[in-house]
This record gives sequence, structure tokens and C-alpha cells, in this order.
Amino acid sequence: MKVKTCKTTKTARRETPDMSKAEIGLIGLGVMGSNLALNIAEKGHAVAVYNRTSAKTGAFFENAGELRQNLVPCASLAELVSQIKPPRPIILMVQAGKAVDEQIDGLRDLLSQDDIIIDAGNANFRDTMRRFAKLEGSGLTFIGMGVSGGEEGARHGPSIMVGGKQEAYRRVESILTDIAAKYEGEPCCAWLGEGGAGHFVKTIHNGIEYADMQMIAEIYGILRDSFGLEAGDIAPVFEKWNEGRLNSYLIEITAAVLKAGDPKSGKPMVDMILDRAGQKGTGRWSAIEALMMGVPATAIEEAVAARSLSAEKDQRLAGAAAYGKAPRAKASSPEADFLHDLELALFAGKIAAYAQGFAVMAEASSEFKWQLPMATIARIWRAGCIIRSQFLSTLAASFEADAEAENLLLIDEFVQMMKEAHPSLRRIVAHAALAGLPVPALSAALGYFDSFRQARGTANLIQAQRDFFGAHGFERIDEPGEHHGPWGQG
Ligand code: ATR
Repeated sequence: MKVKTCKTTKTARRETPDMSKAEIGLIGLGVMGSNLALNIAEKGHAVAVYNRTSAKTGAFFENAGELRQNLVPCASLAELVSQIKPPRPIILMVQAGKAVDEQIDGLRDLLSQDDIIIDAGNANFRDTMRRFAKLEGSGLTFIGMGVSGGEEGARHGPSIMVGGKQEAYRRVESILTDIAAKYEGEPCCAWLGEGGAGHFVKTIHNGIEYADMQMIAEIYGILRDSFGLEAGDIAPVFEKWNEGRLNSYLIEITAAVLKAGDPKSGKPMVDMILDRAGQKGTGRWSAIEALMMGVPATAIEEAVAARSLSAEKDQRLAGAAAYGKAPRAKASSPEADFLHDLELALFAGKIAAYAQGFAVMAEASSEFKWQLPMATIARIWRAGCIIRSQFLSTLAASFEADAEAENLLLIDEFVQMMKEAHPSLRRIVAHAALAGLPVPALSAALGYFDSFRQARGTANLIQAQRDFFGAHGFERIDEPGEHHGPWGQG
């Protein structure tokens, strides 16, 4: 359905546009939406807000303090639309999925030519592409925007990954860069490409986040279960690492988490938390897309699988009863050399996981014709988002120097870092294997690295097997063309 022009819309206020005071609208006052609205208001932009459950709108406005002067609470979509100066940018921050389609459908009859609907939720980029197609020719503009940084990021500056028409981005750029996190003064917000590009990059960001978190948890597991260290003894290890090459938000919060006590039991808080991880889907989408494109993203896949297996608590209890405890090598406390190995192992694992994540984005960029700017992506992840780290500055600089790099593992600086770190990854994975401790993401990172640098692999045998049972043919090393083996002749 075509959108109506100002004159034909239903609301009276549309005919008196001077009454409308807001520069932008926001729908959905959940955790992310309400914090984003406060962020927008704080940066001096008047924002009209609406939530399906109106009690939430009232409570939000009441608690907004002096930011109320930049907030316009609205009781209906029509009122929201009437309160925004045209052409209207409206951010949707509702639950991903059906709710987004419902809100778009509700807005279509109310909006005018050139108004912009911005989906800022955690959408699957395939849904985003479908929505672009649906709104094509409607006169409305659509933007799919990934927002990372959780509650704190939304309130004080998230990392913002934008997908859509570049000229549409230009129209909202000043508000978005105002609310984005800043890294040394540079806003962590960028237009990354058309269509689903923004939501795709956000998905891969989350996939990498899964791998980062899983590998940290595996290192924690070695210190806890191989050495019997208490949470409070592990915290300083992470604190120290946070001052070095692993410096990052996730390492910082891991130290803080390990130090926190449970007011109820007096024990470390982390010891009182059930070992069953949740997931909302973005990590899984990263793995699915990687598999569909045929790009190995094994560290991410294992991180997703580890969360899934963690959720099967009953099965794991049965498994523990059936197999007993793994033969754990018990040492009294880790030597300095071992701790150094752990630090480097985590770093090597991180390099491999990022190499995989960026390789998935490179493939998607070519498949969907996005021309994703890898250096810019690394730059806008340096602040605001959950995976922000010192490492991303190195990554951004490397991509700036070598925009065509096929794989992170082939960029000079990373070659040097990996040469230093991979022997430690090898020792730590071997230690864990002998101690019966699961390190699936670190093992996957090592397996990927060893396969990646193996000039002659073992797929010659796979090809022979395929030819043997299915006459699929193979290439020879000494002459071109397709060949078949002499199977069954002797
Ligand atoms: P959060 O940002 O808190 O993590 P979310 O689950 O992604 O949460 O989104 C919650 C928001 O989506 C809420 O504003 C919710 O509105 P209600 O307060 O009325 O529940 C909104 N939401 C969820 N489903 C919706 C729908 N079908 N239509 C409109 N808004 C919806």
C-alpha cells in the first residue's frame, strides 16, 4: 500500500505541523528503547516516544527527570507521528520478529513520503531484507540498524551499524553520531552498506562475542578445575591480563564478576549461578550463515554449541554419573609460565575467532554486493559495544593498511602475533585434553589455525573416497582436468 501524503492522513495535528516538536520518534520502551530515548534526549534532540503498553510510557516519562523537556510521551502511533517534524525518522526498538512487522504495518497508513522507519532491534538480516523488499515503492524509507552495547551502551553511547540507502543514513547521521559511543572523539557509528548490511554485521559481532566469552570461560574452567582456584584467586589473573594485549571490556567484567560476592550465601556470586547459558539467537544465526556460505567459523559454532550443551543440565548430570570424573592433572597452583601460556592461548584463540568472523563478513559482502568496509567495522567496534578492546584498534589499523586482506591470519602484524601465541594455544589445548577439561572453542581455533597453515592437507584422501563410492572425480597434482582412480582394479 502506498503511504498517504500529509493532507490525507488521519490526525488533525498533521495539518498544523508547527505543533510537532520532536525531531525523531522511538517506539518500544523496553530496556534498550528507554535507554536509547534518554540518550537521544540528553544529546539535545526532542524525541517522541510510544510504547504498546501505555503505563510504561507514563512511568518512563515520570522517571526521566530533567530530560523530560526533550521527551514527548505519546499514547498512540497516530499521536507519535503527529508529534514529529516531517520527514520523520522513527526508531523501532521492539522485540525482534513479529512485533517489528506489526509496528511497520501500523505506521504505514500514518506516515508520509520520505519518512524513515529505522529498525534498531536485533533483527535477523534476512527479515530486514524482506522488509526492505516489502517497503520498496511505498515512498517510505527503511533502515536496518544494529545497536550494540546493552543497556549501558544504549544509555550512554552504543556502537551503531547502519544498513540501507546511504542517502537515508545521511538524513539521520547527525542524531546517530551524537548518540553513538566515541572512540578518541570519533563516533562509533557508520553506514556499512545497503539492505541487511547493518543487521548482518551486528549478527557477526554477536557471533564473535559468543566466541570471545566462551574462550574466556574455558580459561576460567582450567584455572578452577585443573588447579582448584577459587573465583577470588582467578579475578586478579584477569585483572592483570586486562592491562596487556587482552585489554577489553569482556576481560574487565570477567574480573569484576569473579570478585563479586553473593549477599545471600556469602560465597562468590559466580559459584551460586547455575551453569546453564541462555541465548537469543544471534550467535546461532552467525553459525548458520557461515555454514550456508561455506566459510569455516568453527570457534563461533563451538561457542554456540557449548551454550546449547550447557542448557542440557540433566543430560550432563547423567553423563557425569555414567563416566565419572575426568582424569584431572592436579597441580597446586599454576606457575607463572603456565599463566603466560593461558594469556597467549586466549589471545591466539581470539585472533582465530576474529579471522573467522571477518572471513564470514567478507564472503557475505561479496554474495550480497555490500562492499562492507572492514576497517570501518573494526573502528566502530572500538567503543560502545560488548567486544570493544585494544585488539580492535590493531585490527582497524591493519585493515586500513591492507583493505584487500583475504584473511586476518595473512596480515603481517597478525602473522607475527600468531607466531608468538600459537605454541601456547597448543600447550593449553593439550593440557586441557589430558585433564579431561572441555575447551571446544579454543580447540576449534587451534584446529582452524593448523588447517589454515597446512599447505598439503588430507583432502586428497577425501577426494579419493568420493571418487571411489560416487565417481565424483578428482584433480591430479601433475596434470589438469578431471580424473578417476583405478579403484577395484587390483
Ligand atoms: P528489551 O529492550 O527490554 O531487551 P525486547 O523484548 O527486545 O526488550 O522488547 C521489548 C519492547 O518490545 C517493549 O517495549 C514491548 O512493549 P510492551 O511494553 O507493551 O510489552 C515491545 N513489544 C513486544 N512485542 C510487541 C508487539 N507485538 N507490538 C508492539 N510492541 C511490542
